[in-house]
Amino acid sequence: MAEKTVGILTGGGDCPGLNAVIRAAVRKGITSYNYRFKGIQKGWKGMMECDWEPLSLDEISGILPKGGTILGTSRTNPFRQEDGGDIVIENMRRMKLDALIAIGGEDTLGVANKLHSLDVPVVGVPKTIDNDLSGTDYTFGFDTAVNIVTEAIDRIHTTAESHNRVMVIEVMGRHSGWIALHAGLAGGADMILIPEQKYTVDEIIDTIEKRHARGKDFSIVVVSEGVVIQEKGQDGQFIVQESGLDDFGHVKLGGVGQLVCDEVEKRTGFEARVTVLGHLQRGGTPTAFDRVLGTRFGIAAIDLVKDGKSGQMVSLQGNEIVPIPLSEAVDTLKIVDQKFYDIARVFFG
Ligand code: F6P
Repeated sequence: MAEKTVGILTGGGDCPGLNAVIRAAVRKGITSYNYRFKGIQKGWKGMMECDWEPLSLDEISGILPKGGTILGTSRTNPFRQEDGGDIVIENMRRMKLDALIAIGGEDTLGVANKLHSLDVPVVGVPKTIDNDLSGTDYTFGFDTAVNIVTEAIDRIHTTAESHNRVMVIEVMGRHSGWIALHAGLAGGADMILIPEQKYTVDEIIDTIEKRHARGKDFSIVVVSEGVVIQEKGQDGQFIVQESGLDDFGHVKLGGVGQLVCDEVEKRTGFEARVTVLGHLQRGGTPTAFDRVLGTRFGIAAIDLVKDGKSGQMVSLQGNEIVPIPLSEAVDTLKIVDQKFYDIARVFFG
């Protein structure tokens, strides 16, 4: 007879390393604590619909290097409907779950935090390629994304040089520029635009022109998708692909790279091209760092369940895995500070 039955779900955008977390939590839960696991399908959608599959040692075998999530994911928000919390509580009972491990970013863990306040036993694991969750130095998935973008910048560099072009690379990062900043620094970008900073087209053009004035005939500009270009006297707006909102009220971003590229070409006369890296940044096998971090998070999460802790999220602080209140993690986003951005600025132009 199993000691406890634990549900695991993955919510929000997928991210390399999710399977490492699932594997670690299930492996330790079964072999050390005699737990039984239910894999909740497609994030909170599965909790709303009582949709689950058994998760035994067989299901987790061989998944460590696999990208994506074996459980599927969605951006379903139970609290979009008035009785959403009650439905989740009722389904916890129907699925006979003693605890839930929610692996996700600000939205998924925001739901977990609300459920905790309704006495649902839940612990969180921080996931997002954007690295914008508070309370943890890094989320898993971020390192993989940074490495993918860095390799892309290196490749774009050689073609930029051959053709003497300004190459604009649009990367993910809705509210924060962590991916752009890290990959831009690692790839030697000539300008990095992030959502935390304000820019006008004039400033961008100035930087490129200064660089070309000192004899350089190509440039690499990395732009986060969430960058807002402000025109003098006007508040800028997000550039979006379409106007609809998801369950958590997010717009579908995309297009700021094209805007920067068009303006550069029009205003400087330099030939320019844009590359939108998109979901390439989230796909495929996790780096060794993300596999190890995901594994450590998974072990720490199941240990919290074992200790009967709820409302906590595992976090990385320095080189230690530390539990913190979920509320702390979802309160505010972790954004790029000026000091770090100033390091990148040394290399602009
Ligand atoms: O939250 C992670 C993220 O990859 C963001 O950087 C990006 O804006 C968003 O997800 C894209 O979401 P979707 O997969 O729904 O297009």
